[in-house]
Amino acid sequence: MELIKRPRRLRASGNMRRLVRETSLSADDFIYPLFVVEGTGIKKEIPSMPDVYHMSIDMLLKELEEVQNAGIPGVMLFGIPDDKDEKGSGAYRPDGIIQRALRAAKKEFPHILLTADVCLCEYTSHGHCGLVEAGEILNDSSVELITKTALSYAEAGADIIAPSDMMDGRIGSIRKALDNCGFTQKTIMSYSAKYASSFYGPFRDAAYSKPSFGDRKSYQMDYSNIKEALREVELDIEEGADIVMVKPALAYLDVISQVSRTFDAPIAAYNVSGEYSMIKAAALKGWIDEKGAALEALTSIKRAGAKIIISYFAKQAAGWLKEENI
Ligand code: PBG
Repeated sequence: MELIKRPRRLRASGNMRRLVRETSLSADDFIYPLFVVEGTGIKKEIPSMPDVYHMSIDMLLKELEEVQNAGIPGVMLFGIPDDKDEKGSGAYRPDGIIQRALRAAKKEFPHILLTADVCLCEYTSHGHCGLVEAGEILNDSSVELITKTALSYAEAGADIIAPSDMMDGRIGSIRKALDNCGFTQKTIMSYSAKYASSFYGPFRDAAYSKPSFGDRKSYQMDYSNIKEALREVELDIEEGADIVMVKPALAYLDVISQVSRTFDAPIAAYNVSGEYSMIKAAALKGWIDEKGAALEALTSIKRAGAKIIISYFAKQAAGWLKEENI
């Protein structure tokens, strides 16, 4: 008689499960996104993102101390300027909010990897990621301003430049400008496959960056496509990206998986605001176990093939991972 095959043997105890576990999440995997505002002494919770704050630079420095203690290698900074204009000039002003935040952060915490999201949408009055003319989002003139912004962040101390605008040719343009200015060691993490997604909703509340007309579908990708993601990633690697990103993460695990099987570059995935707030909201209502659901979701992103996870859960998750969890 045939023996029953018994896969349950490998699940019989905590230590056995630890021994055969294929994917382990660690604090090493995270980049923690933070929102910086003007002023001093400000730490104000974002209504649509529980436990995420608008912070002035002095409060940001306090937060970075916690990030360092949590063993998280890097943060990603988003600036919320007081004034916005047509050309998003707050993004590339030498004394812009992110430039000042980067300088202060680099001085106090030289080892934390500082990632600067590079985009115009937090700085433009119309909320689009590039320049607008007659209702159209221009490409090449937007790339010029985005390159200028990237260079200015590099000068201010960013270690990782992360363009999130989805204009064509911006990675090549930024790489060339960085090299020409002697910034040959700055890492480019490209938002390569960034989809036009409803899951960015809470972020747009946080950054006051909802487009005032139209949508982002002429530059961010159509969520029906995966081959297009491979083309975008390939172009960005050719143009000089060191790390490529898929965004959002959870509705795009197939994309992460396909990209990681096709390319050798490290893959980052952005566990975006909507994905975060859904778990938070359900947990606040008592409908879901927050720690369990968050760690499960984050592990799925790594299992799919991402090495780097950009997540608002990063600090909490690093804490949970220190607790015994077998
Ligand atoms: C800027 C940018 C956005 C996000 C990251 N960088 C907003 C957008 O494209 O509308 C979204 C992040 C999130 O939802 O957590 N372009």
